This record gives sequence, C-alpha cells and structure tokens, in this order.
Amino acid sequence: MAIYVDTAIITEAQLASQWGWVGGITTNPTLLAKSNFSPAVTLQELAQIIPGELYYQLTASDFDGMVAEGKAAFELIGQQTVLKIPATIPGFQAVAHLSPEIPCAVTAIYSPSQAVVSAEAGAKYAIAYVNRATRLLGDGFALVRDMANVLKKTNTEILAASIKSPEEAVQTLLAGAHHLTLPLDVLQAIALHELSQQTVDEFAKNGRGIVS
Ligand code: E4P
Repeated sequence: MAIYVDTAIITEAQLASQWGWVGGITTNPTLLAKSNFSPAVTLQELAQIIPGELYYQLTASDFDGMVAEGKAAFELIGQQTVLKIPATIPGFQAVAHLSPEIPCAVTAIYSPSQAVVSAEAGAKYAIAYVNRATRLLGDGFALVRDMANVLKKTNTEILAASIKSPEEAVQTLLAGAHHLTLPLDVLQAIALHELSQQTVDEFAKNGRGIVS
C-alpha cells in the first residue's frame, strides 16, 4: 500500500516528505493552478521533494494530444511519472497506447465497468473519487467495493482519491482500495488521535528517560 499527498503546493509536499511515510504526490490541473509556479516548474520541483511516483493529469482531450502530452510529461518528470488519464474513449485509447512505456492511472472513474476497461487497456491504477461518488451517486464505498471485486484477477490496483476525513480513508481501505491519496489536512489527521497525546503526556509526567 502507498499513501500519497494530493497537492501541487511545494511547501505542503516538503512537509509531507519530512514525515517519511508518504510515498509520492498526486496532482491535477486544479491543484497545479494553485501553485505559484508554472505546471512544468512545479512538477520538476515536486519530483525532487519525494522520490516516489509523481502523478500528472493530462489536459488534452483527444487521442493524439494525450499521447503527445503524456510523452512530454515523461520527458519532464522521468521515471517517477504516472500519467493520470480520464475515463473517456480517447482516454482509454491513450492508456492502451502509452501504458507499455509509461505507467498510467485512469482517473475520474464512476463505475466498475470503467475499472474493467482500465485493466483491459493496461492501466496500473484505477482512481476512484470516493467523496465525490458519495455526493453524486450515493455511496462511494460501494463503488470502491465493486471495483475491487471486478479487478480481483487483474494487475490494476485501486487508488482512492477525494477523501475528506480519516474515517472515510479507513472505510475506503476496508472496501478494498489498495492506495490512498489525501490532502495535507487529512494526511495529518490520520496520524493523530487526541488520546495518543493525552497518554504520552501522562507518561511524561510520571518518569524520566535515559537522556533527560
Ligand atoms: C484526485 O486526483 C483529486 O486530486 C482529488 O482527490 C479530488 O478530490 P475532490 O473531489 O475534493 O476535488
């Protein structure tokens, strides 16, 4: 399992990187637009911060444009590249074309059948938007559960995105997601519990350690 930070803000990526357990960075056009730098400069910076996978979402909507943009992203980012490609007819065609050379993640999946097509096209990841699916379809966890079932005998793994709370993150994993991408605040929240600090404070009051 990998946990990614969903951001294109350099300082957020740096903070997540310091924690030592965040495996990579996912971005999308909305997130890249919030950066102070151009998308290309931002991606090059992000690649230096966490040496794991760096996801770039294609903005072209036709097959030729997607292939050209995917290759350009790979030139820019190198071996860390994962191309996020939308679940559309040209998108799946681009995944089939690019996935033998560059890892691809099909994004904006809202049905298990789109996960099946992702696997057939050769995608490494199928991305489910959990909170959006709950808001728009009624049950994001059911979507993840169905995707996990239809992907069982394939090599395509579920990366769950659009997660707004630690509870949603845990329920998503229990539904069968392999990986999570989380915004910084949720990333921090999954590591914390108020009783942990309370317990640590109690021990600290009771005794001394070997260096203090
Ligand atoms: C995934 O690629 C997206 O960055 C993100 O998780 C979507 O979250 P949202 O539904 O909050 O926009």
